[in-house]
Amino acid sequence: MVKVITYGTFDLFHEGHYRLLQRAKALGDYLIVGVTTEKYDMERGKLNVVDSLLTRVENIKKTGFADEIIIEETPGQKVNDVKKYNIDIFTVGSDWTGSFDYMSDYCKVVYIERTRNISSTMLREQNKKILKAGIIGTGRIANRFMPEVKLVSGISPQGVYNPHKESADAFAQKWEIDAYDDLETFYGDVDVVYVAAPHQFHYEYVKSALEHGKHVLCEKPMVLQREQAEILFTYAREHKLVLVEGIKTAYCPGFEKLLGIACSGTIGNIRYIDACFTKLEDASNRELTDEEYGGSFTELASYCVLPIIKLFGYQYEDVRFDTIQNEKGLDLFTKVSFCYPRGIATATCGLGVKSEGRLLIAGTRGYIVVEAPWWKTAYFEVHYEDTARVDKYSERFFGDGLRYEIKDFVNMINGNDKSGFKLTRGESITIAEIMEKFLVKERG
Ligand code: CTP
Repeated sequence: MVKVITYGTFDLFHEGHYRLLQRAKALGDYLIVGVTTEKYDMERGKLNVVDSLLTRVENIKKTGFADEIIIEETPGQKVNDVKKYNIDIFTVGSDWTGSFDYMSDYCKVVYIERTRNISSTMLREQNKKILKAGIIGTGRIANRFMPEVKLVSGISPQGVYNPHKESADAFAQKWEIDAYDDLETFYGDVDVVYVAAPHQFHYEYVKSALEHGKHVLCEKPMVLQREQAEILFTYAREHKLVLVEGIKTAYCPGFEKLLGIACSGTIGNIRYIDACFTKLEDASNRELTDEEYGGSFTELASYCVLPIIKLFGYQYEDVRFDTIQNEKGLDLFTKVSFCYPRGIATATCGLGVKSEGRLLIAGTRGYIVVEAPWWKTAYFEVHYEDTARVDKYSERFFGDGLRYEIKDFVNMINGNDKSGFKLTRGESITIAEIMEKFLVKERG
């Protein structure tokens, strides 16, 4: 009996997949089809798979070509599968020609000619029109957004708005998009808006974008007052628009895994959380010169407060701020302390003092520790009373990480919403409330 194996994602099952399986089966007597998990696809950078693993498996079953279906979960699995299942022929489409030649040490490798003019990517893009993204702001973060947005399918950068024409022109030229210094024209040309202007302008921009019927992804901190967050989320909900606060950590796979472990009882009941993020800034930068909205807290607290709100919730009993200020009265270093009914938490942000930048979650049975940059969670450890036992977890984190929040934003717009839990409205509103309390205390 000749045993054949092939692998794929098989998303939005199409004729190309059908013909590949048909010809793969014809190569032998017994066909095994390996189907990738969502997690594995994420890890290898396929971010927009639509069908669930179960749906993809069902679609392959329906063809009647597969004698056995297995799940592909990790890199390097293919060689082991070939040995394990006594495979004679490994086959994939010709788009992979050359990529699997190393398998010929273990079995015969056949590249089957790919069916022309059809792919899952094409279908994903046809089914959903490509969203034209407009960027408000031309600063550092907007420059980080551009290479990331290009990696997410279903969205394409269209133009940039800045009331200062020269800034808009320079950014537009650099990224080969259109420049706008008139908001109405800008809104007329785009479907979704990414707000990356300085913090104090976020509220007005988000509000006007929503009022123009645009879905909005807004950089953190989205707004600096609780009421503003409530108004924006209520408006978005009433008008069926997606509004997402872009705290990238909330959307990155490693952080999701960390929260899952933290909530699983592995470390018992969580009693203490300590999060720290410091970044030494040049004293002449906006962050250390803007006397009203600059300082370490407005710049970095969204990250540090995030794990606390995610794990302890909105109902803190008390919150307190301690700061070290520069000569302008701006906080160079801030420690915020929360009391909860069953735990305490501290978050530390610094722009003028360097610290270790660690996230610690302590429970009644053990603790989780993530070293800097924990806000781009890629690796963490769980420790116990028995110092000999350490559980280690890792997860891929690609690039600047904005691609994860952009992908979830696009999925939410397309009604494919499995990500709303990653940063809920209530959590964003609580973060705005904490920003407001800090600004009222520090700057009146
Ligand atoms: N395939 C094919 N002809 C096509 C599309 C895919 O023969 N038109 C083959 C691929 O070469 C692979 C298998 O089908 O061996 C599964 O491919 P998969 O990556 O799941 O499908 P694509 O349509 O290429 O998906 P994507 O656009 O997401 O890359």
